[in-house]
Amino acid sequence: MADFRTLDDIDVAGKTVLVRGDLNVPMQDGKVSDTTRLDRLAPTLTELAKKGAKVVVMSHFGRPKGGPDTKNSLRVVAEALAVAVGQDVAFATDCVGPVAEAAVAALPAGGILVLENLRFHAEEEKNDAAFAAQLAKLGDIYVNDAFSSSHRAHASIEALARLLPNAAGRLMEAELQALTAALEHPERPVVAIVGGAKISTKLELLGNLVSRVNILVLGGGMANTFLHAKGVAIGASLCEKDMADQARSIMQKAEQAGCEVVLPIDGVVAKEFKAGAASHVVAIGAIAPDDLMLDIGPATVAALAAKLAGVKTVVWNGPLGAFEITPFDAGTVALAKEVARLTRAKSLLSVAGGGDTVSALAHAGVEGDFSYVSAAGGAFLEWLEGKELPGVAVLRGH
Ligand code: 3PG
Repeated sequence: MADFRTLDDIDVAGKTVLVRGDLNVPMQDGKVSDTTRLDRLAPTLTELAKKGAKVVVMSHFGRPKGGPDTKNSLRVVAEALAVAVGQDVAFATDCVGPVAEAAVAALPAGGILVLENLRFHAEEEKNDAAFAAQLAKLGDIYVNDAFSSSHRAHASIEALARLLPNAAGRLMEAELQALTAALEHPERPVVAIVGGAKISTKLELLGNLVSRVNILVLGGGMANTFLHAKGVAIGASLCEKDMADQARSIMQKAEQAGCEVVLPIDGVVAKEFKAGAASHVVAIGAIAPDDLMLDIGPATVAALAAKLAGVKTVVWNGPLGAFEITPFDAGTVALAKEVARLTRAKSLLSVAGGGDTVSALAHAGVEGDFSYVSAAGGAFLEWLEGKELPGVAVLRGH
């Protein structure tokens, strides 16, 4: 973290601090249905408020088409944020201009204000310099606490960070520390566990991982594509047959880099994709033409657990089977529990993230037992692809 300023390095008393958070939270029936991102942002906001700053929170919410709409207003999210921070949170109906300026002027030291959705202005997504300057006018210091949005070169993430003294917030700091420890300077051996349905969306990620980790474990639908590429019959299982060449080239790259690619040795198959469907375990190589492989089997779980015994670092993205329907969650749950157990025993460092992964770990009841579970989706995947995120690069000053 030496190349970032953090909240420890900035003097905020009496200053207005613009905090880029990620308030892009899931909603159901007009209410915030998962407050994880708000709860994780709260420590930065309360620390700044306690230090006597005026705290102005900026965020996008959803994907509005560059103009205001009630569906994507942050007003309801601001109310939920008040609960997370345990104090009143003011709200401004615009993020720039006279409305925002008046709201900032009216905010007392120690107060927290949320500005309306940045994406109600099309200039936000264009990384527009004039729009960033309008935002910069509202404060003295810029803090980015939105790792999960930092893959976007948008005005509030990139251009604005160049206009004011900047620092990483506590959540950004924790996220970068965990990710650096897991992949940039990891204790070896490192294993990456990658699941999910398709390889077509994860080609870059797999290509990067094989050159950085010692062992790549593949599960979920994407493992079927690799098995198919090796000439193994996988019945009626999900498979991207047109990706066989890409799968082969990833395996070749892995071999050149000395990375061991581990595929399932058995699977749980059913005739239909349905919760509770009749299922049985088959060895890979004995899958019938009408079988759907919906999970890794017990022999695979045992083999992976044995491999984990000698491992120091685990990076996990994606479920290893159709974890959303029982009994096809068993493989993911068993392996997640084993990683959690080894993490608790201090035998390894475990970092997980990206979309379904968090739900899968929560389903296994082990979310709190991993060393770090990222609340980022797309940003976590881009980081696994080896890309420098624009919002992180700008904090590093390059
Ligand atoms: C996310 O939910 O991954 C972030 O908030 C980024 O949202 P976006 O994909 O709409 O930029």
